[in-house]
Amino acid sequence: MSLTSHPTGTPADAKVTVRAVSRTFHRGGSTTVALEAANLHIGRGEFVSLVGPSGCGKSTLLRMIAGLLRPSSGEIDIHHDDTSRSLCSVVFQEYSIFPWRTVTANVRLGLDAAGIPRKVGNARAADWIERVGLTGFAKAYPATLSGGMKQRVALARALVMEPELLLMDEPFAALDAQLRKVLQDELVAIYETLGNSVLFVTHSIEEAILLSDRIVVMSARPGRFKAEFTVPFERPRDVAIRSSAEFGALEEEIWALLRDEVLAAAADESMAGAPA
Ligand SMILES: Nc1ncnc2c1ncn2[C@@H]1O[C@H](COP(=O)(O)OP(=O)(O)OP(=O)(O)O)[C@@H](O)[C@H]1O
Ligand SMILES: [Mg+2]
Repeated sequence: MSLTSHPTGTPADAKVTVRAVSRTFHRGGSTTVALEAANLHIGRGEFVSLVGPSGCGKSTLLRMIAGLLRPSSGEIDIHHDDTSRSLCSVVFQEYSIFPWRTVTANVRLGLDAAGIPRKVGNARAADWIERVGLTGFAKAYPATLSGGMKQRVALARALVMEPELLLMDEPFAALDAQLRKVLQDELVAIYETLGNSVLFVTHSIEEAILLSDRIVVMSARPGRFKAEFTVPFERPRDVAIRSSAEFGALEEEIWALLRDEVLAAAADESMAGAPA
């Protein structure tokens, strides 16, 4: 494993390059610096996770990369290699699926928007519904599904586009521990067959190690990149690595760094809530 204190090196073949990106929010007369001078790259086919305390700007960065929010300063470059393919899909923490559409209709959403003929769209949706383990639920409505099943729908809807870049913001945070493990294992397998680039935001160091090639640790607000770790486990990954000593040692090393930031963020929050 390698640790660099200034993870700013950007390979020429990066899929995504974030250069000196800052984002400030102004609300009700107060100003929040959510992210300050962030530098990050994601290689082609690389799985990068972001971990950091609450409020350090992870979602803000992901939304800027997705093009949903503009940086206050700095630049973000994303290379669209194959314009016949979709560039980017996003999976959010909360199940962002439409209750009035069936599973198939939800999964087909991006395909419909791209003008893919219904028959082709249905076939591609059916394939992904099966791959995420929802066989038999194609015609079901979200209200009849469990939380884990809804998140599988969101995953299938993102993956059916076969995007070059997949952005995931704590996609498994709302799931119970067992379901989360199942979906993590499924995501490992899916990623290893698709080989697209992924940026994954999580509060779980274990999840980050299991899934990623590289983990970027962020500091408390204003978010900066504090360190990065290369995950040493080979692919295809056997989920049994979870119980290896090397896994535990890496988890502890990352936690030792993150702990101070989590404490700093908690102190910051209690100051904000304290009487003047
Ligand atoms: N639209 C907005 N208007 C005002 N402030 C915002 C807005 N979006 C985010 N912020 C603030 O910017 C900071 C970073 O928020 P962000 O959601 O990116 O954090 P995060 O790292 O994703 O946190 P969490 O781990 O809790 O999801 C926070 O202080 C947040 O309150
Ligand atoms: Mg967030």
